[in-house]
Order: sequence, then structure tokens, then C-alpha cells
Amino acid sequence: MQYLFTHDNTAELTAPGEVNTLVKPLLGENSLILLSGKQHRRQRQLLLPPFHGERMKAYGELIWRIAHEVMQEIPMGAGLMAREAMQKITMRVILQAVFGLHQGDRYRRLEVLLAERLNLVSSPLTSIFIFFPWLMVDLGPQSIGGRVRRLVEETDQLIYAEIQERRANLDPDRTDVLSLLLSARDPQGEGLTDEELHDELMTLLVAGHETTATALAWALYWIHCLPEVQQKLLAELAPWGHSSDLTSSDLTGSDLTMISRLPYLNAVCNETLRIYPVAMVTLPRRVEKPISLLGYDLEVGSLLLGCIYLIHHRQELYPDSKQFRPKRFLEQQFSPGEFLPFGGGVRRCIGSALAMYEMTLILSVVLGNYELELIETKPVQPKRRGGTLAPGGDIRFRKVSNRLQFRQDKAWATN
Ligand code: HEM
Repeated sequence: MQYLFTHDNTAELTAPGEVNTLVKPLLGENSLILLSGKQHRRQRQLLLPPFHGERMKAYGELIWRIAHEVMQEIPMGAGLMAREAMQKITMRVILQAVFGLHQGDRYRRLEVLLAERLNLVSSPLTSIFIFFPWLMVDLGPQSIGGRVRRLVEETDQLIYAEIQERRANLDPDRTDVLSLLLSARDPQGEGLTDEELHDELMTLLVAGHETTATALAWALYWIHCLPEVQQKLLAELAPWGHSSDLTSSDLTGSDLTMISRLPYLNAVCNETLRIYPVAMVTLPRRVEKPISLLGYDLEVGSLLLGCIYLIHHRQELYPDSKQFRPKRFLEQQFSPGEFLPFGGGVRRCIGSALAMYEMTLILSVVLGNYELELIETKPVQPKRRGGTLAPGGDIRFRKVSNRLQFRQDKAWATN
């Protein structure tokens, strides 16, 4: 795997974008995922700075507040579908941190429409229309083709309206990704066009929202299946939980940074991404010169996909690989070729720092503030959902109590 990541921009191997045409109707032809060579490098250089680890601090309070907001919307005693609830949080994070939308009709409309549009990709019946647009005959308002077309048109109109308004009123104080991209320039002084910005926003939304939500759903599942994992996490979070109930009003940006770096919390996130990597395989690499790899002679034009899942289950690296054991990440350091949930090389995930920041902070909010109970205790098997490895069927929880409430009641009972 290491070879794939260190040679994917050489005379032997490349990471072409044109082979990913399946996603073109969903993302647009300027999407980073569809670009190759020089064009890919240019666009990546423009996109990377807003996703740098340090920049994440600007989004900490926002992630914290949104996680609270969504969890509070769920009534006590009510059921909660893990992926659905986490997707609500990650969608709002992308809309606010990436698109820079906060309130108002456009935000509310886009939240609903984009969720509907993305759901189409995961539904086998309707995604066929997105990937094979020539099948999408509009047979009137009630036909699937008609609904999909209108959905795409309406979301695009709203996104373009936002880009144009923001370009006309550039605010240097804004820290959202769209604002940073509007001012970004390549070495020739060229910025991104409206079409490029639209396609990149869609790319960041599609690549970043369901992946992170699925990882969070898995993390919640493991934490609630394994009481000793949950206890260790709660003990690690206790210094923040006891003093402030983990509400953002009491916490500073540096508290959030410290929480996001907690060792056991990070080990739980890593183990979640190891055992069922949300992206099972990397994007394709293409052989450009005949090469021999692991005893295989590969012809020019062969496409190679690195299987992240198989590496994460190599017994010599991860003994008892089917067991969820966060401790592995505290006892050992893994190289980029051994632990690679975000791929590597020239296509390495640009949102990895944001995804890890979201995972650690959202889990802290959920665990630190609410007691959840798994409704069904039988093991959940992974299943392919769109391009991700997701829980087969959503994982259902019941919101049992607020932790502070729970602690106070306990204290009352023992007094
Ligand atoms: C747990 C969450 C996530 C996982 C597991 C994940 C995983 C991956 C993987 C495996 C790749 C392909 C790497 C390769 O081929 O070597 C990738 C690419 C990508 N990811 Fe992520 N990702 C996650 C979250 C995000 C987020 C939050 C964003 C942005 C908001 C994002 C944006 C992208 C983009 C734009 C690419 C394409 C990069 C390129 O073509 O150069 N991802 N991701």
C-alpha cells in the first residue's frame, strides 16, 4: 500500500480523476475528485489551507453548539437512529463551517433539499437516475425523473445565489471555507470560478457529511456495546463534565482543543475507523508503465484500488482484528501504510482533520451530556451503503436521561 501512496504521481503510477466519472452528475465536472495531474494539484492547493489542522479551532464552538442543538431536539425517552441523528449534525456543520450559511430561508431550504438529494444516491432505485442521467426522463411532477431534476435545479440555484452574493460582499473577517476559497488565488493570481466553487462545495458536502456521520454512528455503537470502553471515556471526560456539564457557554476554545486531543477518545475514534473503515477502498490509481507489484505483473492502464479494510485486518498488525480494542492505538504507533482510514498520497482525504475534530467533539457532547441505551443488543453487521461501509440497518438508541440530571438525582438519592 505504501508503494501506491508514494508512487501515485510518478512515471509508473498516477491517480487519474477521469476514471471517477460515476460521480460527475452529482458533483459536477470541476470536482477535485474528477480532476487529474496539474489541474488536480492546482485545485488541491487552493482547497487545502481551510482544512489545515490549526484552522479547525475556528469551527470547534460551532461543532459543539450544533451537536447540542440536535441532541436537545430529541425528546427524553424517544428513540434515536444513530446515523440519521449524526447526519443531521454533520450536515449542519458542513452548511455552517463550509458553506458559511447560518440562518434564514436559504439555509433551511438547502438543509432539507440537500439531504433529499444525497439520499437519492444511497437509494438503489433512484440513484440510477443520478448516475445515468439519460434515463432521467421528466415525465411530469410526480415521476421520479421529474422530482430528481427539480431537486437538482433548486439546490443549484440556491448554491449559486449564495456564491454570487458572497462574492459581491467579500468579508475578510469570515472564517468559513467558502469565504476562504473566494479569496484564494493560485500562483498565477487566478481564483476559482462560480462553477468551480459550486462543484467543490458539492464535493465537500458529499465526501464529508455521510462519511463522518457513519463513523460517528459506528463509534456510538461500539461505545454502548462495550461498557468498559464507555466507562474509560466518561472518566477521561469527567474533568470537563463535572465542572460545566460540557455546555459551550462554559468552555473556551482551548478547552475544546484539549478535549479533541484526549488520548483515549482519539484511540476510540481510530479503532472505529480501523475496524470498519467507512471508505473500504481508496480512489483508483492507474499503472502508466509495466510494473511488478507483490508478484503480479501489471499492464499499462490497469486500475488499482487499495483495500483499506484488508490492511486494517492484517493479523500481524492488528491481532484479533475483529475485536474492538482502542488500547492498540495507545500501545503502538502505526505507519501511514498500516493505518489509513483517509487513504494517502496525492489523493489523501483533505477533510481528515475536520472529520477527526468533529468525531472527538461530537462524541464528547453526546457522551458527556446524555445517557443513551441501545434498543437492540444483537451484533450489527456492516453493509455497503453508497460508497461507504455503514451499519446494516440504522442503530437505534433511546435517550434515557441527561447526565447532569442523572448525577444530581443520584446525589439526591444518596444524601
Ligand atoms: C470519517 C470521515 C472520512 C473518511 C473515512 C474519509 C476517507 C477518504 C478517503 C479514503 C479518500 C480517498 C483517499 C485516497 O484515494 O487515497 C478521501 C478523499 C477525499 N475526502 Fe474524505 N473522508 C472523510 C471525511 C471527509 C471530510 C469531512 C471531507 C471534507 C469536508 C472530505 C473530503 C474529501 C475529498 C475532497 C477527497 C478527494 C481528494 C482528492 O481527490 O484529492 N472527506 N476521503
